Amino acid sequence: MSNHDTQLRGEDRIAADLKTDQSAESNAPAKIQEQEKALKFKVVESYKVLRANIMFSIIKSGCKSFVISSSLPSEGKSTIAVNTAIALSQTDARVLLIDTDLRRPKINRFLGLSNTPGLSNYLIGMNSISEVLHKTPYPNLTVFCAGSRVPNPSELLASSQMEVLLDQLKQKFDYIVIDSAPLNVVSDTYPIIKKTDGVLLVVYQNRSDYRELDRTIKSLEMVNAKILGFVMNGVKPKKNNRYYADKKYQYSYGYGYGYGSRGSKKK
Ligand SMILES: Nc1ncnc2c1ncn2[C@@H]1O[C@H](COP(=O)(O)OP(=O)(O)O)[C@@H](O)[C@H]1O
Ligand SMILES: [Mg+2]
Repeated sequence: MSNHDTQLRGEDRIAADLKTDQSAESNAPAKIQEQEKALKFKVVESYKVLRANIMFSIIKSGCKSFVISSSLPSEGKSTIAVNTAIALSQTDARVLLIDTDLRRPKINRFLGLSNTPGLSNYLIGMNSISEVLHKTPYPNLTVFCAGSRVPNPSELLASSQMEVLLDQLKQKFDYIVIDSAPLNVVSDTYPIIKKTDGVLLVVYQNRSDYRELDRTIKSLEMVNAKILGFVMNGVKPKKNNRYYADKKYQYSYGYGYGYGSRGSKKK
């Protein structure tokens, strides 16, 4: 990662979790090196906190599966799904990440994988499970990409094939993390949530609209979907933190999580 590249992309976030680019750092001025280290540390710590909260939210034996969603596009669902899946896989759990956003797939791009064959190809009977499960550089993380564009994503995701598939996958993995389409835009994600232990809702600070979130929560409550908690994305670092005094880092690396419990009583 270039030292001047302040636009954190998904891949960079993942790299930030796992390793430090020594060659780049050795050429960087000491202050920037110190800032980058502190920022990477903060990102990694945020995902560890999120991971712990997820582990405490789903208390059961066997596979734990959950959906990461939000009201609207571009609130950080895919970014958070990838990094959460990596963080969970680092506990030695066997983790599967599934991209169920068949309309705007992203997981393949974040992990440098081919999007096809994927979930849609499997669901229409074109490919077997072994043909669509991708290995990743992370030893315990397997990925199921979205697959070819199809005219009927809602029907496919609500189908009995999808239910049977999830049941089969639950036998093979400790965690299934599901990236999804936005809840206020299309109905694709609702039936999937019902087949899992619940949904984590991503909210983007100063961007997500409270009324949209309220609509999402009401819709989820109407179908008795379990809301596991909320993840606050894009939180600006505190101004008095010396590591963030340099303005250019404030947006790109402004990462943080708030965890709520609204809806957690619902089953
Ligand atoms: N906290 C953040 N800071 C900066 N960019 C972010 C952050 N979270 C997400 N992004 C970027 O915003 C864009 C949309 O994120 P994405 O995870 O694809 O959203 P969604 O899946 O909700 O549509 C991506 O380019 C992603 O890298
Ligand atoms: Mg997405």
